[in-house]
Amino acid sequence: MGKIKFVTTRDGSQTAYNQQADEHYHSVTGAIEEAFEKYVKPLQITDGMCILDYCFGLGYNSIAATAQHSNLQITALEKDIQIVRAMKKVAPPAPISHKYEIFSDLAEQNIIKDNDNNVIKLILGDVFQTLPTLPDEFFDRVFFDPFSPTKQPEMWNLQIFNLVYAKLKAGGKLATYSCAKMVRNNMRYAGFRVYDGPQVGRKSPATIAVKVKKTCLK
Ligand SMILES: C[S@@+](CC[C@H](N)C(=O)[O-])C[C@H]1O[C@@H](n2cnc3c(N)ncnc32)[C@H](O)[C@@H]1O
Repeated sequence: MGKIKFVTTRDGSQTAYNQQADEHYHSVTGAIEEAFEKYVKPLQITDGMCILDYCFGLGYNSIAATAQHSNLQITALEKDIQIVRAMKKVAPPAPISHKYEIFSDLAEQNIIKDNDNNVIKLILGDVFQTLPTLPDEFFDRVFFDPFSPTKQPEMWNLQIFNLVYAKLKAGGKLATYSCAKMVRNNMRYAGFRVYDGPQVGRKSPATIAVKVKKTCLK
């Protein structure tokens, strides 16, 4: 990955730039705003939920979830140890700085619990290897945050959404920043009901996908 370049986004929080993907890790309109407004709030996180963080990166989505909650069990998938190590170099985002410092040792410790009994467990590796090993019907929520479908289409393919669907409990929900047609179609083929998410920092909406209970299917 080389030297990580940090960029200050418009809400004052930093993100990183990935040269290979030629993309930032978050929206440059506001990195920590994106974590709260596109992931944590629309997913209506409640205490004690099991959350899958599909592409942990600098961990903003997961750590934003811990800021107001307790007893969360978060499983975080990420293949690049360098970006996880970079948690110690980035300026901790102001609204979650108290939690960020606690979890910034994840590259060394792999599993960390905070004072509110929220646990983040990091599983390093390619999602194509790590995702299938997770238990079925276990997760209440998914933060789905890979690089864009244009840059990494394989991370948004039907095989992946079939797996994510299997890992969610009935009634479980996923949030992602993308509303690309290919992405939404793959979600629907996997069995999700698909809704517009919030429109924050860009013209198009985010996406919320729900695993409806089979009895509710028409
Ligand atoms: C948009 S960034 C995630 C940002 C992150 N949610 C955050 O808050 O910082 C996408 C992440 O996906 C990771 N990634 C890319 N391909 C992957 C793969 N095949 N398996 C696991 N992680 C992958 C990248 O290393 C990168 O950290």
